[in-house]
Amino acid sequence: MAVFSRDLGVDLGTMFTRIVVGNKLALQEPTVVAIAVDEQKIVSVGEEAQEMLGKVPESIEVARPMQNGVIADYEITEKFLEYVIRKVSGSSRFFRPKVMITVPYGVTSVESRAVHEAILQAGSREAYLIQQPLAAALGMDLPIGTPSGNMVLCLGAGTTQAAVLAMYGIVAADSIRFGGIQLDEAIITHIRKKYGLIIGSTTAEQVKFKLGTAIRQEEERSIEIQAQDQVSGLPRSLNITNDDVLEALKEPLKRLVETARKVLEKTPPELVSDIIDRGVAVCGGGAALPGIDRLMTKELGVPAYLVDNSLTCIAEGAATALDPNVYPKIKRNLPLV
Ligand SMILES: Nc1ncnc2c1ncn2[C@@H]1O[C@H](COP(=O)(O)OP(=O)(O)OP(=O)(O)O)[C@@H](O)[C@H]1O
Ligand SMILES: [Mg+2]
Repeated sequence: MAVFSRDLGVDLGTMFTRIVVGNKLALQEPTVVAIAVDEQKIVSVGEEAQEMLGKVPESIEVARPMQNGVIADYEITEKFLEYVIRKVSGSSRFFRPKVMITVPYGVTSVESRAVHEAILQAGSREAYLIQQPLAAALGMDLPIGTPSGNMVLCLGAGTTQAAVLAMYGIVAADSIRFGGIQLDEAIITHIRKKYGLIIGSTTAEQVKFKLGTAIRQEEERSIEIQAQDQVSGLPRSLNITNDDVLEALKEPLKRLVETARKVLEKTPPELVSDIIDRGVAVCGGGAALPGIDRLMTKELGVPAYLVDNSLTCIAEGAATALDPNVYPKIKRNLPLV
């Protein structure tokens, strides 16, 4: 594919923002901003700000301005976008890039207008929106320009989206404001209920990375974590096993499966047969949960597979949508602002 100038594909995510220029990943930063409360000035952005989470005095606020895929704090999101655009496009006042930015499927027009407004204010010259599942399919190089069915499942930190695509557009889709962060919360709740111990969200995510699975594993594994006793408030250590984590994740994983199942149910039968042949392409950070492909295959009755560029395909697809050969075909299916 041609490298088309310095236009940007921006995937503005709940936890991570990724930017592709042409066909190369130019930036990947946590969507986090640290602000000095008094002056309302930015202290740091991205990775550096992320490291401050939960470790700063009251004079500094560390914020995640995106929640469940939509803008929760407009001002901070705009400042964050300004920073990342500058980082990839340089700080010249004369060059303002053209941007294709992603929004989750099914957001309201007010929510998508806020993203459009923020990216324009942040220093882009022209801006278009694209739904994340459509961008994902483009970024995976699925043959979505044909009258045949292709299905993607995007497992993000704050959203779960499933969609069937054909003729450069979405034929059937569903999206819930529920994702990896809610899986972490389920681990927190489980440990509190079962052991009377409290853990923070960073620890919960670490537990998920180390022991998380979507299906039962033969071998039992465990790790020791530090927690706080719910009653005495004192620190205690706990040995937690992969079975514990599976138990915690069971209900939230059902919600992910249901999202995909609903989409299959409302897909026209002709397209379902294509999907049975081709499978469901799974992307997003949640695709790295061991066994998620097997769980989906089993529960959906359609083969699910993981894509190689699961973290970057959405940003890559957004950049592809700006390609002069692709844009004219896709533009009628993009959200209006
Ligand atoms: N090995 C893993 N097992 C389980 N979950 C994982 C793993 N690696 C990453 N994740 C989860 O993936 C999520 C981040 O994925 P991603 O970068 O796709 O989210 P995002 O784009 O910021 O969110 P969204 O698309 O919902 O706005 C986090 O919740 C993280 O915990
Ligand atoms: Mg995402």
